Formats: sequence, C-alpha cells, structure tokens
Amino acid sequence: MQKNILIIGACGQIGTELTYSLREKHGNEIVVASDIREGDQPLMDSGPFELLDATDYDALEEVVAYYEIEEVYLMAAMLSATAERFPMRAWNLNMNSLFNVLNLAREKKVSKIFWPSSIAVFGPNTPKNDTPQNTIMEPSTVYGISKQSGERWCEYYHNKFDVDVRSIRYPGLISWKTMPGGGTTDYAVEIYHKALVEGTYTCFLNKDTSLPMMFMDDAIRATLELMESDPEDIKVRSAYNLSAMSFTPEEIAERIQKHIPDFTIDYEPDFRQAIADSWPSSINDGKAQTDWGWKADFDLEKTTVEMLTQLKR
Ligand code: SER
Repeated sequence: MQKNILIIGACGQIGTELTYSLREKHGNEIVVASDIREGDQPLMDSGPFELLDATDYDALEEVVAYYEIEEVYLMAAMLSATAERFPMRAWNLNMNSLFNVLNLAREKKVSKIFWPSSIAVFGPNTPKNDTPQNTIMEPSTVYGISKQSGERWCEYYHNKFDVDVRSIRYPGLISWKTMPGGGTTDYAVEIYHKALVEGTYTCFLNKDTSLPMMFMDDAIRATLELMESDPEDIKVRSAYNLSAMSFTPEEIAERIQKHIPDFTIDYEPDFRQAIADSWPSSINDGKAQTDWGWKADFDLEKTTVEMLTQLKR
C-alpha cells in the first residue's frame, strides 16, 4: 500500500517545491499539503490541501488520522530576520510544531519525519570556513537557538524513543517558484528579481559577506535522498551539514552582470548584517557525502542561468 505524506508549511519557499516534487514522485492524492493559509492557485489545484496550525496538536493529529499519514515534512518556521523581531513567537512556532510532530512519531501515529535545520545553528565562535559537522555551535540568533535546540531534541527522540527523524542544515536557498520570507539569505533571491525588473539592487548585506548557499533543486533532491536512505546509513540524527557553493553579494552581482551587463548594485547593510556575520562562510558536508552519497549539482553560474531564464518567463 502506498504511504500518505503530509507537508506542513506547504505554501512556503521550500514547502511549495517539496509538494510538487513529492506529488510528481508518488501521485497527487498521496501527498497532503497543509499550511496556516492558502497558497498559489496552481499549488492549491495540484492535490489535497488542509488549513492547519502546526502548533495545534489536536488539529494535527486529526489530519494525520484522517489521511492515514505515515510520513511528515515539517517545513513551517519563522526565519532568522523575522525571529529577531518576534522572539517568543518564533520560539513557540519553531519548537512547538517540532514537539508536536516528534510526539506523533513517539506515539507511533507516523513513522518517519523530516525537519529542516539550518546553517544558523552555528555562531560567532564556530570555525568560519569549511565548518565541520561537529564543532562549537553557540548560535547567537533566536532562529539559530531554536534550530540548535530542535536538533538536540531530534537526536534525543531518536535515541530514547526510536523516532525515525532526519534533518539537514540547509544553507541559504535560492529559488524562483516561491519567494522566501524573513530570512537573512533572502537577498540572493531578491537580487535576481530586481536585476530583471529594475536593473539595480540595494543589498542589505555588505559586499564581502560570504555565506553558504544552494539552489532549490539541489535542496529538494537532498531532502528526498536523505528520506529514501536506509535508516542504518543515517548516522547523524541531529542534522547533516550540506554544502553546494559560497559567494558574497559582490560575487553574485558580478555573475549577474555577465548576463545583464547594465545591472548595478549598492549596499545598505541593516540589522541582518550582524546575523550574517555570525554564520559560517562555507560548510564541510563530508559526512552527508559518506553516509548517503550527497553531491551538489548547481554552482553559482548554473544557478544564475536557471534563475534568470525561469524568472524571465
Ligand atoms: N535562510 C535562512 C535565513 O536566512 C537560514 O536558514 O533565515
């Protein structure tokens, strides 16, 4: 029998593309999308959808029972920039939604969970370049603290209650289908939109701020590959480092200028600069490569061509 899948936060930047990919793979009816609000019409029309507040355990349990859900992808979260403005709301959303899903698995109501972590788990005392899987973390943002705590709880539920939870520390994600919201790495998406529409972009980070980034197709493929891996191969039950490319605002601007020569950029760093400064510049993902064969496909040039081509349509 085909197992049913629930995506929580299906209308967000990652959730949208994950929903389409999983529906393509398993069939539209198998994959139930849910979010606190409705998404774009194409997404709404592509299969079952439920309005769902991920912090409401009873509502979640009801959806899981109704659709006989076996696998849950919890993509709802408040990202780094917004979380600095609403710390308690961020903590409540990011942690309670995770506890709800972990407890469903502990009670054997679902059998497998994906929960995303982030490069935000690292902090100012972390080695900045080629950041190892296991190292000093000490996140200094509200979002990072919630993600690091989440990682600890995932590992705990796996060890104590045999919960099959899997996670990735996503870098900044670049995509064209759905805009990100409230993140510090969002500039690397906005810049392509502005380049095409206005020919100029004012960046909220300094020109030399190097951050780890990844194109969405890679991120989705990584997620599916991790979820399809043999449980014995998953040696890390907190979250895996994952890497594809690193660049600065200046470097992405130069890359865009190769395709749009008149494109200009200027820099007006705001409070997000401090968040970016606390994160690594590049990530070592050797463990993901060894344990489940991860390899990135998109570099900055390939990402730029894809972004400009798709957004032009
Ligand atoms: N992209 C996220 C953010 O900027 C980090 O996980 O908040």
